[in-house]
Amino acid sequence: MGDSQEFDRVYERFQLIVNGPALFNAVITALELDVLGFISRHPGAPFEELQRHTEIQPHKLRVLMLALCSTELVGRRDGGYVNSSVAEEHLVTDRPEGWRDTLIGWRRFQYPAFPHMSSALRTGTNAAALDAYPGSGNTLYERLASDPELVASYHDSIGPFTHLFAHALLDNVEIAEVRKLLDVGGGDGTTAIKLVRRYAHAEVTIFDMPSVTRHAALGIPDDLEGRVLTHAGDIFEDDFPRGFDGILFSHSMEVFSPEHNIKLLAKAFEALPPGGKIFLYNMCASDDEQSGLLSARLSLFLNVLASGEGMAYPAGDYEQWLTEVGCASVRSYTGLPYEHALVVGVKE
Ligand SMILES: C[S@@+](CC[C@H](N)C(=O)[O-])C[C@H]1O[C@@H](n2cnc3c(N)ncnc32)[C@H](O)[C@@H]1O
Repeated sequence: MGDSQEFDRVYERFQLIVNGPALFNAVITALELDVLGFISRHPGAPFEELQRHTEIQPHKLRVLMLALCSTELVGRRDGGYVNSSVAEEHLVTDRPEGWRDTLIGWRRFQYPAFPHMSSALRTGTNAAALDAYPGSGNTLYERLASDPELVASYHDSIGPFTHLFAHALLDNVEIAEVRKLLDVGGGDGTTAIKLVRRYAHAEVTIFDMPSVTRHAALGIPDDLEGRVLTHAGDIFEDDFPRGFDGILFSHSMEVFSPEHNIKLLAKAFEALPPGGKIFLYNMCASDDEQSGLLSARLSLFLNVLASGEGMAYPAGDYEQWLTEVGCASVRSYTGLPYEHALVVGVKE
């Protein structure tokens, strides 16, 4: 690519990024006012119909539609509006992996924290952004525990992403063979439920904080009783339960520092029988740490608010840690959708 084309490409990305916060909120407003849903049900709907449906002033709707059209999520056709296929597939959908609740969750839990970024990076702590939450503890997860509504709302916002990301994990030939899996930091049980639905021989135990396992237990369908179980505790302070042939860390290693992760991996290794496997499923920055928009946003969120540490480590970091705690054989499945990698270590 010539110099000027490269300049134009980066400048276009720059425009998207710096105008992004306003446009991000316009997308959420369009979801809340059912603009995208209405256009989906009435492709080609004229402005007047949309205005009657949303009941907002014509001028305000004009401004919102300019914003939506500028994102290209919505376009104009024959005097009316139509959704792009991206809007249809990812925003106007009843599928559990739709982005709607994720974006609403980013607005509530992530983006209010980012103005504290300079101080968080300078001081090396997440204290400033954590101040917005009641209770004690140095992580968002501990703070959420003081209020069941916060726990439910937070997990509702990460659930759709877990659905979206789970496909590549569930398709993996090694996870398919596990009979009893411990899901460390298993959250609301989305992965556990999907896994036992997919594999009739599988049983999964969610190991998470008591406030989260209580929430997860409410969502376990009756027909999966006895196949999706919960184990409440602190993954750092408490022993890992035994009797599992696989231990999964799905998005729970990104959250912590290398030192903390090695401690967790050593505990997992110790709890496994010979032949047992550790599965690390995470969003991973590229090896050269130069790309990955999802990885970059997540890493900033973790450091500014969630835990004050961690990042979307490149897959090589996980391989190194697994080797360090004693896994004889370590392999990576990289290039999975949404910047994911699965790293597997075997205890021999
Ligand atoms: C980013 S979420 C991952 C959720 C889920 N595994 C997924 O793939 O979406 C991290 C999880 O780790 C849990 N967690 C954080 N610190 C913990 C601790 N000290 N003890 C137990 N669970 C903890 C949180 O409650 C949360 O459910």
